[in-house]
Amino acid sequence: MKILHTSFECHPIAKVGGLADVVGSLPKYQSNFDVESFVVMPFYENSYLKKKKIVEIKKGAIDLNGISYQYVVYKFKPKDISYSVYLIQIKDLLDTENVYGYINETQRYIGFQKAVLDWIKSEDLTFDVIHCHDHHTSLIPFFIKHCSEYKCLENTPTVLTIHNAQYQGQFAHDSLNLLPQFDFNNVGLLDWYGSVNPLAAGIKCATKVNTVSPSYMEELKKNAAGLEGLLSSESDKFHGILNGIDTAVWNPETDGSISKNYRVGNVISGKKANKTALCKKYGLDPELPLFGFIGRLVYEKSADLLADVIRETLLKTKELNIFVLGSGNEEIEAQILELKEEFKEHFNAYIGYDEELSHLIYAGADFLLMPSRVEPCGLNQMYSLRYGTIPIVRRTGGLKDTVVDIGDGGFGICHNQATIWDISYSIGRAIELFKDQKSFRKIQKQIMKIDNSWDKSAKEYVDLYKSI
Ligand code: ADP
Ligand code: GLC
Repeated sequence: MKILHTSFECHPIAKVGGLADVVGSLPKYQSNFDVESFVVMPFYENSYLKKKKIVEIKKGAIDLNGISYQYVVYKFKPKDISYSVYLIQIKDLLDTENVYGYINETQRYIGFQKAVLDWIKSEDLTFDVIHCHDHHTSLIPFFIKHCSEYKCLENTPTVLTIHNAQYQGQFAHDSLNLLPQFDFNNVGLLDWYGSVNPLAAGIKCATKVNTVSPSYMEELKKNAAGLEGLLSSESDKFHGILNGIDTAVWNPETDGSISKNYRVGNVISGKKANKTALCKKYGLDPELPLFGFIGRLVYEKSADLLADVIRETLLKTKELNIFVLGSGNEEIEAQILELKEEFKEHFNAYIGYDEELSHLIYAGADFLLMPSRVEPCGLNQMYSLRYGTIPIVRRTGGLKDTVVDIGDGGFGICHNQATIWDISYSIGRAIELFKDQKSFRKIQKQIMKIDNSWDKSAKEYVDLYKSI
């Protein structure tokens, strides 16, 4: 079976968040099930790609509202990736350093999707399934079903994976002329409450739709940033498949980004060495329990509550250290930076994106905070488990599906509300657990053995492909 994944992110080529981790690892694990996967993504002018050897395989052109853009498709199969990646370069449209944050986002997404289909069509390529990830590529199912230009692809089944329904890619009807020509009787398929809504169009037109955890699927039927009615009515084709993690990349035994490698057998000395390295670099005392936070500093992650939680906790007790790695909302970034001055020996943060540092935190921290308001799946908690770092999570989405509270016979610390009180209370529970070193060490070992690999979920995706 041949599958084409279409995405704007793919680790290690270009990553903003978990979408990249999933698109970068799922194809690798699908090959265990007789599936040959390919990824097609934009070519970015970033430092990773600048150093790589890529081969030009095709040139073509697309039209966006009367303006013609030349595109070039490159093929890329480096040693650190076991599947082929196709990179689409579109000059003056996609040739940016970063993935998101440009004013012409709609043009970028539509231009990319047109180029993907033009390339498939002109090269006569066949895929058994086109697998679209998030709203950036979720117009493809509509294009191949309803645009005469791509009629030859109309029988290709499509899967749409919703990694995060908060982002839907809406734009005004005025911009409909960016799309390929379609029978106007079908305009309703594009519309959702007066806007063109690519995610909604994908849900309506894809053969199958899934999201990245069973609990998030159920939550979306009740609350999906306006799409709940649609997801309920399309529930027959809607599935929840829990993400897995790439256990080759996220492995404390071999991880090249941490100070000392370790396994279950020497977790105590291993984590101690990593904690010491992290604490030394950031002026913290390694004897105290260390709480980490890694993530986008946005409302969905409850990052707006972090500063108050940290201040309240550290004013009450100095029995802990906290380290934050993240970037996002400027106001939240400023709040975090302010805390650095206020609690010099107990709090530190790195505002920015740093993949290496994230690995050191997973390895060196004792607890990982994830109080998310919305968490479709969440990968951080699964990485932290593998590195023997106890997750503190809000019971929502994928966090609910992957972390069980110690009080319920599990291994994590869970709370229900995204409130300062609930999060602070959980931190208090963690401090108490840390004092009971015997129980703490037992859980540390237990969580490192939990299997969150792709093995089961990669097969669920393959079964989904087979069903269509
Ligand atoms: P989301 O995709 O919603 O941001 P996930 O938990 O699925 O959340 O995945 C986040 C991914 O991004 C993880 O691999 C995490 O380690 C990484 N990450 C987030 N913020 C940073 C950062 N500032 N520096 C390095 N890695 C980060
Ligand atoms: C999104 C979600 C996150 C999920 C990731 C990968 O970014 O916010 O919860 O883990 O996609 O599916």
